[in-house]
Amino acid sequence: MKLVAYYSRGGENHFGGQKIYLEKGNTQKVAELIADKLGADTFKIEPLVPYSENYDECVREVVADFRNNARPELKENLESIDKYDEIYLGYPNYCGDMPKVVYTFLESFDFTNKIIHPFCTHEGSGLANSVKGLESVCHSAIIKKPLALKGSLVDESRDAILDWLKEE
Ligand SMILES: Cc1cc2nc3c(=O)[nH]c(=O)nc-3n(C[C@H](O)[C@H](O)[C@H](O)COP(=O)(O)O)c2cc1C
Repeated sequence: MKLVAYYSRGGENHFGGQKIYLEKGNTQKVAELIADKLGADTFKIEPLVPYSENYDECVREVVADFRNNARPELKENLESIDKYDEIYLGYPNYCGDMPKVVYTFLESFDFTNKIIHPFCTHEGSGLANSVKGLESVCHSAIIKKPLALKGSLVDESRDAILDWLKEE
């Protein structure tokens, strides 16, 4: 069975150089399309204490997480990932890496021999070090070709997403 697990934050964000308010985060839009296409289960990775909706405040919180190598507590978690053999893992690029709460999620399960398809939204720096980070915590997983999409262009990225799904 397939699972789409993702972290995404609605609220104030940078969008093509401007600050705007997003009801739904960029990564969530991609996750929903993938889950719909694959008929996959979804799980939204959420920290117990949400990051601020205010962009600058959120950046301060996230930078503090990185300084402390934090593992923010999850709001809730799956009981198990045993029934899933393929996981589509979505996250925004935060400071060149995966958000620390995604590490909390990944470290809570054994991904040995699971297939992971990473997808990332960003505002210019692509995947950066995120796949290295993923490999470091899921070293026994099979990590497939990652997809990187510019967050402010996700609404126009349908074809790129569908092409990537076909490649696997
Ligand atoms: C705290 C924070 C740090 C970010 N760091 C980067 C970065 O280092 N490189 C980059 O290209 N984009 C960065 N971004 C932009 C996000 O990756 C981009 O807006 C993404 O699409 C947000 O996804 P979401 O709407 O699903 O939360 C950052 C955004 C935030 C809020």
